Amino acid sequence: MNTIEELLQKRKLPELLRFANGESVTRENWETRRKELVDILCREVYGYAPPAPAHVVVTETKRKDKDYAGKGTVRNLTLSFPTDKGEFSFPVVEVVPTDAGNCPVFVHVNFRPDVPDRYLPIEEILDAGCGVIRIYYNDIAFDGEDGFTGGLAAMYDRKKYTWGKIRMWAFAASRVMDYLQTVDYADKNRIAVVGHSRLGKTALVTAATDPRFAMACANDSGCTGDALSRDKVGESVKAINGKFPYWFCDTYRQYGDREHEMPFDQHFLVAAIAPRRVALGSAVEDTWADPDSQYLSACAASAAWELLGEKGFVHPDRLPVPGDCFDAGSVAFHLREGTHFFSRTDWHRYLCLI
Ligand code: GCU
Repeated sequence: MNTIEELLQKRKLPELLRFANGESVTRENWETRRKELVDILCREVYGYAPPAPAHVVVTETKRKDKDYAGKGTVRNLTLSFPTDKGEFSFPVVEVVPTDAGNCPVFVHVNFRPDVPDRYLPIEEILDAGCGVIRIYYNDIAFDGEDGFTGGLAAMYDRKKYTWGKIRMWAFAASRVMDYLQTVDYADKNRIAVVGHSRLGKTALVTAATDPRFAMACANDSGCTGDALSRDKVGESVKAINGKFPYWFCDTYRQYGDREHEMPFDQHFLVAAIAPRRVALGSAVEDTWADPDSQYLSACAASAAWELLGEKGFVHPDRLPVPGDCFDAGSVAFHLREGTHFFSRTDWHRYLCLI
């Protein structure tokens, strides 16, 4: 049986702790390297986003106190901000524990607008003493091929900003973070971004590009999320670009079947969140995402935390088996039984990590 080190060597990953110019990375210049990692990933994969707007205006459209058996306050809000082509607005739903003061908050980018939703178990979140703000991703940019003509995509010139839709959804999560800076109820040091699958990829990109997030929870994010692309099984760079080209910048397409030529791999994305916290969820039947490649990515990314004198990914010297749950360091990973979906089991992991 191979050791983890041997398995990582076989993948021939680009070096995490070496600058593009060949210089080695130290504890002192980690933040410079971290920014370089984000820049490489924007240039090659997710595209560049516009700068943050000068302000975000928030209006309440509906409010319900003492909801969920008295445990929470639900508010429907509209967030508006200036763009290159006028004002852009999107709705969110905020659910906060009744009389909350200094509570952790999850910014959840979800597939459906419903609150609650099968991926958004409000009562469990409130019972854990946390608030949540739900973004419905199609309110930001339609998840389909529309030539970047709608939503946030239409508000900027894509020749200037090369972003794909994942980067757009992440940009919206940062606007929610702008709002959260202004509220009294939130613990500003315990704001997490969470999402499943394509929105797990989005959660990682959000935290990598916005250091105000204390944690990213990426559930079953797989290809071009947490999983290493080199020698990955299941979905490949070619497959994801063939089916979902609008998630990325155009540059990414060139790497189909050429993963070994990429000047990056997905451990760069995980590491770009260091020294903050990352929680990765995987499911044993989710072979499309490839749990082993997700796990090995966490193993490779761990070096960033270790460089900073932190515990990164604390794990045994073997590949994961169902039921594994490793969270002794800043990189947490679990592999549960079952298929690709956002289970309560996954939520319970993330709720105890914030
Ligand atoms: C597809 C896609 C994955 C993605 C998933 C999802 O399966 O190939 O990359 O993660 O959809 O978002 O559910």
